[in-house]
Amino acid sequence: MRLDRFLANLPSHNRQQARLMLAQRRVRVDGQVVSDPLTEVREFSRIELDDKLLQLGRPARYLMLHKPAGCVSATHDLQHRTVLDLLPAALRDDLHIAGRLDFNTTGLMILTNDGQWSRRLTQPATKLPKHYLVETEDEIGEHYVASFREGFYFAFEGLTTQPAQLDILGPRQARLAIVEGRYHQVKRMFGHFNNKVVRLHRESMGAIRLDPALVPGAFRELTVGEIATV
Ligand code: URA
Repeated sequence: MRLDRFLANLPSHNRQQARLMLAQRRVRVDGQVVSDPLTEVREFSRIELDDKLLQLGRPARYLMLHKPAGCVSATHDLQHRTVLDLLPAALRDDLHIAGRLDFNTTGLMILTNDGQWSRRLTQPATKLPKHYLVETEDEIGEHYVASFREGFYFAFEGLTTQPAQLDILGPRQARLAIVEGRYHQVKRMFGHFNNKVVRLHRESMGAIRLDPALVPGAFRELTVGEIATV
């Protein structure tokens, strides 16, 4: 929301008074004096007027987790362990998953309470590549590479997948970079060749790489530098 709107929405203030308070340099956002009415503020912003606290700003949280196999990418599940069950209870509140993984897929999972940030990370429009290590039942042919680049038609969604980069690492192993996260996307892409994915591991999302120090099931906070890459 724009800062002038936030201020004008306060009881006993109108738009004109909001602009005046800003011009008088009485408003601070996250400790900095702000006079531009168009400044964007969020639920995470600390906003002060003179020495009065208008909004505390809830802490934004960003975690990376090494998702193990055999765990559901959901916040609740009646049958199976979820990725949230791997976190201490005090940390789980209001987190959502930025880019789900299938039950047996392993690797980088990011959890946050910042919806704008996670949309930038996952939306195809921002074109941040997600890298996967893939193992298949049958051999991966050289001709796959062009097909992955050209895209596959997904009839259910009525769309063609965005260009994907496939690097063949061995007869049944490849690294794949995709910018989308459609339902079972990688499995469906290989399914085009009737080649079953037997192991799938996400290595990175954009510039954020799974920390090799994290064993399956372990997590850590993202660094300021990692958060800023999105
Ligand atoms: N594509 C899949 O098919 N499964 C995943 O878990 C992630 C991407």
